[in-house]
Amino acid sequence: MELGRMVKKYNLKGPKIVVEPPGPKSQAALARKEKFVTNGIRIGLPTELDVAEGPFMRDVDGNVFLDFTVGIGVHNCGHRAPEFVKACQEQLDKFIHICVMVSPYKAYLDLAEEMSKICPGNLTKSIFLNSGSEAIENALKIARSYNKKKWIVSYKTSFHGRTFMDISLTGKEKPYRDGFGPLVPYVQHVDYAYCYRCPLKLEFPSCGIACADTIRTVMESKPLEGDVCALVGEPIQGEGGFIDPPPGYWEKMRKIMDDNGVVFIDDEVQTGFGRTGKMFGIEHWKCDPDMLISGKGLSLGMPLGGVTGKEKIMATPPPASLGGTFGGNPVCCAGALASIRLTQKALPNTKMINRVEKKRLDEWKQKYEWVGDVRGLGAMLGMEFVKTKKSKEPVPDFTRNVQLNCFKHGLYILTAGQYNNVIRLHPPLIIDEALLTKGLDMLETAMVDEAKKAGL
Ligand SMILES: Cc1ncc(COP(=O)(O)O)c(C=O)c1O
Repeated sequence: MELGRMVKKYNLKGPKIVVEPPGPKSQAALARKEKFVTNGIRIGLPTELDVAEGPFMRDVDGNVFLDFTVGIGVHNCGHRAPEFVKACQEQLDKFIHICVMVSPYKAYLDLAEEMSKICPGNLTKSIFLNSGSEAIENALKIARSYNKKKWIVSYKTSFHGRTFMDISLTGKEKPYRDGFGPLVPYVQHVDYAYCYRCPLKLEFPSCGIACADTIRTVMESKPLEGDVCALVGEPIQGEGGFIDPPPGYWEKMRKIMDDNGVVFIDDEVQTGFGRTGKMFGIEHWKCDPDMLISGKGLSLGMPLGGVTGKEKIMATPPPASLGGTFGGNPVCCAGALASIRLTQKALPNTKMINRVEKKRLDEWKQKYEWVGDVRGLGAMLGMEFVKTKKSKEPVPDFTRNVQLNCFKHGLYILTAGQYNNVIRLHPPLIIDEALLTKGLDMLETAMVDEAKKAGL
């Protein structure tokens, strides 16, 4: 891949720890954070970063980290991919902001046209916003304006962002919703196809995907009956812990939504842009969405979210009812056009990532009592840590310690999950096999080390 070229500018080679993080300069930064930044922002990995390129990030104390978090699933093509930086710079040299509500511009129109080509199904019209959260908000406004129905259905283990609408949809109480109520009414939470912890205590395939049937029952019973506007769902849950529904799940859900005139809003903020091995996660099932939400990898770090939907749905909001000063900023749109080209080039490499990671994670599941489940698709794989395979008792402290142990040795990884006991792997899609293996070796060393300390 392009790794050599991309790490050349800053001579970033790693991972390399020269002083245990946080080093002295980073400690000073963390003290400033405490003084000047709201308590509501929690720092996951305590160091101050100053340069990032390709799969590497360097902190102010000179440590170089291998990045398996990529800005929480954003830099799928590595940090500062040259073609992406060039596209943004070219747009910066032309103009930075006009506001599409004043006059349209090429980057916005090109991106809208491109989205109509790459999105699954017949999604032809778009609007661009500043974030995934804002895109979800807009999708729901559009869906309501289309079918005038009241109820929105979403999943208990979902995550859809940080605005009031988004946290109303999101299932996890702490830290996302707790203390912020009252939330938006007419949201009904239902169980996801979380097979490892099946809410119905059944097993696939003999269950016949009964969890979908329970959603049908909810939609077809009072008070929702005949009044369900939309279902918002991630094809594979991200923050929920990389939960991938079984084959047939989304096909079955599509039929339920069709039977009840429900708009399917496919949240691809985390699963999109190549992460699952296809451009969009839902393409692993035969289930065309009515609207698709994009974000994160859409523009490789420039803030952008998108809603792309069916003509008849996107046509309903009256003129001037949607918009925003910065949504679809020209530099972000120019970056997104480069992101689409780069993602298409990087996609084949997800096969290697899946092969290498899956083999390794499956081996760990065999070998270690505390690896309860291994799951995910493409380059979106994770594992759930438990006290014992039989008890399935979540071990969030152990999971956090594994993350911190990796960090101290030069590897950035993320945790996730309803019980904060999932390690999720977000390597850049352009990574090569040697570096991927190096990161997995580091993770295994950290896991074994922490398991010993925890007496697991
Ligand atoms: C599935 C999903 N939807 C929506 C969002 C919110 O996107 P943003 O953080 O850009 O507002 C996220 C963010 O993590 C996400 O993972």
